[in-house]
Amino acid sequence: MGASGDAGALPRNGDLRQRALAVLERNHRDGYTVPAQELYPFQWCWDSGPIALGWAAVGRWDTAWTELERLFSAQWTSGMVPHIVFWQEDDGYFPGPEIWATGRNPPTTGLTQPPLPVSAAARLFAGDPDRDRALSSFRSLWPHLVAWLSWIERARQGPHGASVIVHPWESGMDNSPSWDQSLSVVPEMSNEHIERRDVATVSADQRPSSREYRQYLGIVEVLRTAGWNTERQPADSPFAVEDPGFTAITARAAADLAAVATAAGVDVRASTRLAESLGTGLHALWDDDMGWYRPYDVLAKCAVGPATSTGLVALWAGVPVARVHRMLARVDSWRTTLPAAIPTSQPDDPSFDPIRYWRGPVWVLINWLVADGLARAGFTDRASALRTATRTLVARSFSEYYDPRNAAGIGGQGFSWSAALTLAWLTEA
Ligand code: DGY
Repeated sequence: MGASGDAGALPRNGDLRQRALAVLERNHRDGYTVPAQELYPFQWCWDSGPIALGWAAVGRWDTAWTELERLFSAQWTSGMVPHIVFWQEDDGYFPGPEIWATGRNPPTTGLTQPPLPVSAAARLFAGDPDRDRALSSFRSLWPHLVAWLSWIERARQGPHGASVIVHPWESGMDNSPSWDQSLSVVPEMSNEHIERRDVATVSADQRPSSREYRQYLGIVEVLRTAGWNTERQPADSPFAVEDPGFTAITARAAADLAAVATAAGVDVRASTRLAESLGTGLHALWDDDMGWYRPYDVLAKCAVGPATSTGLVALWAGVPVARVHRMLARVDSWRTTLPAAIPTSQPDDPSFDPIRYWRGPVWVLINWLVADGLARAGFTDRASALRTATRTLVARSFSEYYDPRNAAGIGGQGFSWSAALTLAWLTEA
């Protein structure tokens, strides 16, 4: 598992860290950090997790805690944490608050994203050298963390006990081929007029198609008409899928909370129980013929899609060793044609596209989740090879994603989580 590139030619850690920090500083706003200037000019939910870890990695603990506090200050009373918080006006992004019309202050979307910020909070608590600050910050976040996970358990439990997403945006892997089949029956938005702004910044062939956008907005329209009732979105939405990636990140979030609960003096029981039940749900999404974790379409009642990053992220939660071997064997077979690891979708599937967002490009976040899971499962050499390979990518640019054929940085540039994980993972001591 590696990428083309000469490790000897890489910049020294110090240089790379300085450049990564400069990206985070440029993207920092009033207490939160945007994923990328122009392309994503607000606070994004799951991005906040790795971004907080990046701030912590350079000793900016107050900034790290504030990143999470800002996000949770926009939490809904149901416990849902919205996937975008529109902290200020910016015409550069579509769909903005007027399309969502959730009636929230601050304005937010009405969807969520994988709860990576929960795991980030547990890491901040464990790592913050100022123990008084760690304790008071974590304890004040605690009710919010628990409320989010309880809401996922209550309102998003699928037939196998895995977590249900009601929109591809909730997976964080928007146009992954994993969602193609389920999306094919979703109505397009009723209004003919669509104002894509993303393609002003990034080449259209690296972004979702117009039809996909019209369907993304079609789901938004249905859920908005249903009144953004976060207790019943899987019933309201024309898209309801048990997502292995979302489930794995939630299971790990619960386990991470349980691991620090005693030290923080908070109740461990609910987190332990949720980690176990989601582990069972994740287990049920394993497709033994394919040797991969696959989403389950709750409406069509079938497993869907080729081998993609959402199944790979199961490793982050911890999976049986025999399954790790099977998944690694598949990933290794991809390297014969694609030198940069790890493509986010199966290269021999007709849906594969090496430059189109989540349909093939390599993402730093996915590599981190996988490497962490591999290390915890005892595959330390593989984890370290993946870290080295990822470092060669960021040494060239802090891009949103990378072409697996030649490691070219594509999508948005100056991308926050690529920089943050450079600090928290790729150049740590
Ligand atoms: C986008 O706008 O592309 C985002 O991924 C939605 O969350």
